[in-house]
Amino acid sequence: MTSPISNTVPLNAALAPLEWLLGTWESDEPGEGTFPTIKPFHYTETLHFSHVGQPAINYMFNAFQIETKRPLHRECGFIRLKPGTNHVVFINAQNTGLVDIEEGELTENQLNLQSCSLSRISFAKEPHVHQICRVLRLRPDGKLEQTVSMATNNVPLTQHLHITYQRTS
Ligand code: HEM
Repeated sequence: MTSPISNTVPLNAALAPLEWLLGTWESDEPGEGTFPTIKPFHYTETLHFSHVGQPAINYMFNAFQIETKRPLHRECGFIRLKPGTNHVVFINAQNTGLVDIEEGELTENQLNLQSCSLSRISFAKEPHVHQICRVLRLRPDGKLEQTVSMATNNVPLTQHLHITYQRTS
């Protein structure tokens, strides 16, 4: 949920290049989940990007089972830009017990991210993730598109998720 404070506190100037992300985004059609070792699936997802005046965006990604609306995968964290550059970082925690830092480049309306550090809780389920590549792109039609690929113990880098969202606030 967007923090009320973000309505009153001016956006930190360092975040101006990322302003297009701010707000709430809901999947407009079911996301597609795939991976060679699992049954393909569909899901819905809500993304919240907010700020409190600091040079960091706060985000929450909440995915749901379509029919039951049961919560599934969840991620939250911070997005920061290296001052004076287009170098962007995601500091990300996942409900599966995975914590990762993804770094990459911001081009006009697109974030290209690669994991550079992954860590997990001692009882995280196998297979373990060893690499994540994520693209978040604002399309010319105003929709946000997310594509996530991952590599695990058993499978080299392969697409896991593709989904589009429309802004709802
Ligand atoms: C960066 C984000 C994510 C990572 C790193 C990740 C990682 C994984 C891994 C490692 C697996 C097991 C693959 C295997 O068994 O070989 C998996 C399966 C799965 N993931 Fe994700 N996932 C992510 C996001 C999501 C999201 C957003 C959803 C949305 C619902 C999702 C739904 C699923 C489902 C349904 C399975 C199959 C579970 C099963 O068959 O037991 N994942 N994911």
